[in-house]
Amino acid sequence: MKILNMIENKYICNCKKYNLFEKDYIYWEDRETTSDELDIIKFIKNKFHIKDKNLLHIGIGNSKIASIFNEADKIVGITVSKGEFNFANKLNLSNYEIFLCDKYSENFINITQKFKFDFIIDTNLKSYSCCLKSFNYMFTNYLKILNLDGKIITSRKGMNWYKKLKPKLTFSLKKLFHYKLKEIEGDKSNILSLDEINKISTDNNLKLTYNERVLYLTK
Ligand SMILES: C[S@@+](CC[C@H](N)C(=O)[O-])C[C@H]1O[C@@H](n2cnc3c(N)ncnc32)[C@H](O)[C@@H]1O
Repeated sequence: MKILNMIENKYICNCKKYNLFEKDYIYWEDRETTSDELDIIKFIKNKFHIKDKNLLHIGIGNSKIASIFNEADKIVGITVSKGEFNFANKLNLSNYEIFLCDKYSENFINITQKFKFDFIIDTNLKSYSCCLKSFNYMFTNYLKILNLDGKIITSRKGMNWYKKLKPKLTFSLKKLFHYKLKEIEGDKSNILSLDEINKISTDNNLKLTYNERVLYLTK
């Protein structure tokens, strides 16, 4: 039996937040991989070798990344949805470890600091931030767990996406009453512009590389 990889979340900011962990909220486990993430997958396949590398996948959705890059040494997946977490665990992939955790929370670094990653794949780096302070905190944590020459990879479309998640009790004929994470209108300041990512890259001595679909920062 799998142990539930979940710790209560703590934050460095005082922003009001929904408790995404109090119920078994479903979200993206049954949905198609976004075209944003497909862009990243295609890019990685063409450009990098994943064999024997350590990958951190933030926002696992339907766990496509873990299913595809099975030659990786280790894939750690992070999600805020218990539905996604359960779905991922059922795949029973030996190199895949999944955590129910908010990437903007203090627990993120507690969970991930025992690993070092060659790739951090986060399709929606800033999309779900509660504030700039927490976004910067998350980014600093990413750098702490990234190997030298490691890469943080994101999607140009994902950089422009800015929905919020709200927990909801809902009804469908197939699932009857169930809990889900519903996307609601978010904050436009969570659009991650090229200017902003340029500044982040300069401030942190990272090499910025991008095309019209995918962007990555090298340590
Ligand atoms: C729109 S879904 C996309 C799923 C998948 N990345 C894809 O592109 O197909 C957004 C993903 O981000 C995750 N997510 C949202 N907010 C998060 C947060 N604060 N910390 C970690 N994961 C988060 C959700 O659990 C979900 O897996």
